[in-house]
Amino acid sequence: MKINILTLFPEMFSSLTDHSIEKRALEAKLIDIKTYNIRDYSTDKHSSVDDTPFGGGAGMVMKPQPIFDCFDDIIKNSDSKKRVNVYMSPRGKTISESYLKSFLEFDEINILCGHYEGVDQRVIDTYIDREVSIGDYVLTGGELAAMVLIDATIRFIPGVLGNKNSAMEESFSNGLLEHDHYTRPYDFRGQKVPDVLLSGNHKNIDQFRKQQQIDITNARRPDLLIKDEIVE
Ligand code: 6GU
Repeated sequence: MKINILTLFPEMFSSLTDHSIEKRALEAKLIDIKTYNIRDYSTDKHSSVDDTPFGGGAGMVMKPQPIFDCFDDIIKNSDSKKRVNVYMSPRGKTISESYLKSFLEFDEINILCGHYEGVDQRVIDTYIDREVSIGDYVLTGGELAAMVLIDATIRFIPGVLGNKNSAMEESFSNGLLEHDHYTRPYDFRGQKVPDVLLSGNHKNIDQFRKQQQIDITNARRPDLLIKDEIVE
């Protein structure tokens, strides 16, 4: 899976690509992440990327020319068979487990990150297939949201997580929140690990954990027990 990011702040993405799971997945060539600095595509003499809004109002709008040229450059040099162009926006469809999985069918994801008051609508009308949000609150830019989308999506790519089981057993993958976790020591400052986890009886352990998942989901997120999601 190839991920191209169109952004005014490409250096922000090193916090994603230089660490842990993403770093290993990049090294193993399971994913390829490339950033494109929108400012590099500006053709005006001050390399400006924004302008005042028609109709007035607060803030600035990212102008179409640099973003059009950036998208054209990416698309012209791509051999993708199944591409999706994404714009990160609080106006978009909020990501969920099932919506994330719907991104796995693409071999190329181009993610546009907006700033200021947003991007000129003609960019969206021309290039964007999906507007994606990460929740009902407003961030100062799309970069952090893009990193959330990327991180949460690539976890589903086979081999990205070291342990094959870990993506399957976590919260949501069976519709339930996760059970509690414990490691050594057995007794830490007087707090002991539930004995069943030391019993070696895997049937009992599975049953204990499953019951805990149900109880925790019931208490914290009863909506998950009744939700039947529809993927776009
Ligand atoms: Cl995708 N972008 C911005 N700027 N704010 C957001 C968001 C995205 N999702 C939730 N809030």
